[in-house]
Amino acid sequence: MHGRPRGRLAPDGNFRVRAISIVSAAAGQVLGKNIYTPDGRVLLRQGTALTERYLKALRDLKFSHIYVRDERLPDLEVDDVIPEDLRLEAVQAIEGCFADIRKQMEETGKVNINVDAVAEMSKSIVENLMSHKDLVVQLMDLRSLDSYTFAHSVNCCVLGVMMGQRLGLPEPKLKDLATGLVLLDIGKSVVPAEILSKPGALTEEEFAKVKEHPRAGFDALREVFNVSAHSKIVVLQHHERIDGSGYPKGLKGPEIHLYGQIAALADVFDALTSDRVYRKRLLPHEAIDVLLRSADRLFDRQLVTTFVANIAPFPKGTLVKLSSGEHAIVTDIDMSTALRPMVAVVKDSGGRDLKAPFPLLDLRRERSLAIVKVLAE
Ligand SMILES: [Fe+2]
Repeated sequence: MHGRPRGRLAPDGNFRVRAISIVSAAAGQVLGKNIYTPDGRVLLRQGTALTERYLKALRDLKFSHIYVRDERLPDLEVDDVIPEDLRLEAVQAIEGCFADIRKQMEETGKVNINVDAVAEMSKSIVENLMSHKDLVVQLMDLRSLDSYTFAHSVNCCVLGVMMGQRLGLPEPKLKDLATGLVLLDIGKSVVPAEILSKPGALTEEEFAKVKEHPRAGFDALREVFNVSAHSKIVVLQHHERIDGSGYPKGLKGPEIHLYGQIAALADVFDALTSDRVYRKRLLPHEAIDVLLRSADRLFDRQLVTTFVANIAPFPKGTLVKLSSGEHAIVTDIDMSTALRPMVAVVKDSGGRDLKAPFPLLDLRRERSLAIVKVLAE
């Protein structure tokens, strides 16, 4: 560790949280961020000391990761791309919309949906994102497995709008895109819940039922006149792939609308980085890799490149192992060289804990060093 230019980072500050797996969480650790129930109520507040009882409750609710405070960490400024209360309101609006459709289907067999609240939320999301420049997705949305569908809609909206911004779409177009993205899986309200939450592989019949959801969503919105045709296309086309392997129509390449292609990327990325009943989440750099490997086959390469430019592969606060054997925490990222962030070394190559202030390394300059692993302790 000799001879490298290093900075020093002051050890004071209050954003010292990192994501850990629920398996390695222990009583006595302090929560770094609020935890919400699937219906959006605060279950545990940040600052709460974990107890065995809380940990059991979190495991029962199928949380796989939580944020905890770690006083060894340097002060990091990490903001979510949209405020937490807006995210929650949007999740609740989309949940209400789903419940409404299910009820109408049961009672009358017909759907006459009101998407005003959802459209309103999607517009607030666009306005919020437009008021910030150069946003980068840093925080993982650590939600319970049970709230997947609704949180997924909101995440797709955020990811897709960020990409639309990067492509230079004007605000009215971003709002059309956003409304479509929030309503993406609205057609799943007609797919039986047992199929949606089935842990194993789906039978051919069940998969056929799931594949109906883009068309079902599009049909449900057909008569809704305050949702634009472009928003409806997002819903219809978000499972199409450029090689024709998607559904419902098996469209190819430019036959798929730009918004449909944006929606497909947002949908896949968020699904990959979420816990599902059948597999654990991928880390951001792993999901980016999956998308890049499907470029030219499932997705347009240029669009994939634009999409991943908004995502930090190693977000601030990530604990990593360097090729030198040292353990370090990501403290800052230059998105043009996102794989080589600034890190603070917390453990030397002999496995000894270092004391704050931690030595800083700029991996853009340390060309002989690389991140070899993300540590999920
Ligand atoms: Fe979908």
